[in-house]
Amino acid sequence: MNIKKVLTSLGIEPMNPGASTGTKWIKGGGAVIESYSPVDGQLIAKTEEVNDKTYNKIIEKAQSAFTEWRSWPAPKRGEIVRQMGDELRKNKEALGSLVSYEMGKSLQEGLGEVQEMIDICDFAVGLSRQLYGLTMHSERPNHRMYEQYHPLGIVGIISAFNFPVAVWSWNAALAWICGDVCVWKPSPKTPLTATACQNIITSVLKKNNVPEGVSCLVQGNASGPLMSSDARVALVSFTGSTPVGREVGKTVAGRFGKSILELGGNNAVIVSEHADLKMVLTGTVFGAVGTAGQRCTSTRRLIVHESQYDKTIAVLKKAYSQLKIGDPLDSNNHVGPLIDKMAVESYLNAIEKAKQEGGKVLVPGGVLSGKGYESGCYVKPCIIEAKNEYAIVQHETFAPILYVLKYTDIEEAIAMQNAVPQGLSSSIFTNNLREAELFLSAKGSDCGIANVNIGTSGAEIGGAFGGEKETGGGRESGSDAWKAYMRRQTNTINYGSQLPLAQGIKFDV
Ligand code: UN1
Repeated sequence: MNIKKVLTSLGIEPMNPGASTGTKWIKGGGAVIESYSPVDGQLIAKTEEVNDKTYNKIIEKAQSAFTEWRSWPAPKRGEIVRQMGDELRKNKEALGSLVSYEMGKSLQEGLGEVQEMIDICDFAVGLSRQLYGLTMHSERPNHRMYEQYHPLGIVGIISAFNFPVAVWSWNAALAWICGDVCVWKPSPKTPLTATACQNIITSVLKKNNVPEGVSCLVQGNASGPLMSSDARVALVSFTGSTPVGREVGKTVAGRFGKSILELGGNNAVIVSEHADLKMVLTGTVFGAVGTAGQRCTSTRRLIVHESQYDKTIAVLKKAYSQLKIGDPLDSNNHVGPLIDKMAVESYLNAIEKAKQEGGKVLVPGGVLSGKGYESGCYVKPCIIEAKNEYAIVQHETFAPILYVLKYTDIEEAIAMQNAVPQGLSSSIFTNNLREAELFLSAKGSDCGIANVNIGTSGAEIGGAFGGEKETGGGRESGSDAWKAYMRRQTNTINYGSQLPLAQGIKFDV
């Protein structure tokens, strides 16, 4: 990959303005943000944080765009999203490469992320003709009742570095067809992929005379708290850590705004005595080391039946010894770097804490140095035998650390799976129907995602994505997640000449 060519084709300059209203870039007015690649430690390009004044300008533009956009027929809004999907198809290779270079995930995963964007566009196009409400039978004669969904207004999208572009699209594609306008605050760790996305859709916005302000971008962290407390932002969709999400949730709720929270996971795979170990291997290794363990759906815990324990550890050890760590743009490598040195610190701290609590290291970790590892962000995926109760096991560390735990009976395994504060993704490997159904039943997994004979990561966009407990409860992407981007209205129409009251109340005047 020639990164210079990629940057040029995506319209990335050495210095990029921090704010956009769709087709127009505006100066952010705040501090400079430098984006360094975790792949080779090189400075890719710069942008700038948006200050209060620019933030207000952007919100005002978005507000005025909404007054027009909400009146466009939903299928016409879908047509705009369809064209955006086509632009993403044309730019898949370049955007996927930039995702890989700026964030550090493998090129395959970078391309996969752009594919998720394309898929959600397709999904949203179909949905634009299916924003269904129900009709009800009124208890009164000559009355009709139904419900309809209206757009909310401004949707603030705060996304994380690990899926620097897909999370925006899951929110934006749905929000747009619902008639909302979007203001995107990407992670300051991956600002350039966001700039690239905005550039990719510009031609569609221009060609179709989409009101300026339908797709806005604000770089830098300052706009996060501003959005949360801003009553003009009807919905804040936040993806990130549980501590920050807790604050966002409180602030938005304090003004009776709406929020979608996609926070941490602590995802477990149960390996039953009836598991097919070949399948466990692919699902678990990809889940634990893919994206260098930096997905919210990454596999953090492996809960293994005692009868399978030694065999499972042996095959995992062998697989881990064959993992190639290095430049994620080289397709021979399985594991790329962590996002930055701070992430490396928290990886090392977690391993240390696990050891202090009594954990036994089965596959040792460590930071790699030397040729190809100059960025200092490459670490070895590590496996630690642990207990579910350890404080560190209860905590999400965004790194390739897998804790293995042993169980005796399935109820105990499910209880362990559930005994963490988070509730995003979970899975069981079993060929036993009773176990599988128990795992999926009301007595089973308490997570937003529960899989059988599939790992915890790599969810398809067609399902609603999100989790319970400290994961925040929000749902994005497929199924009826669109409802969170609209306001519901119940309508009762009296087409008779009398005015009977509901509940049979008599009230003569
Ligand atoms: C995330 O890590 O923030 O299920 C999202 C998956 C991806 C999405 C992960 N489709 O792994």
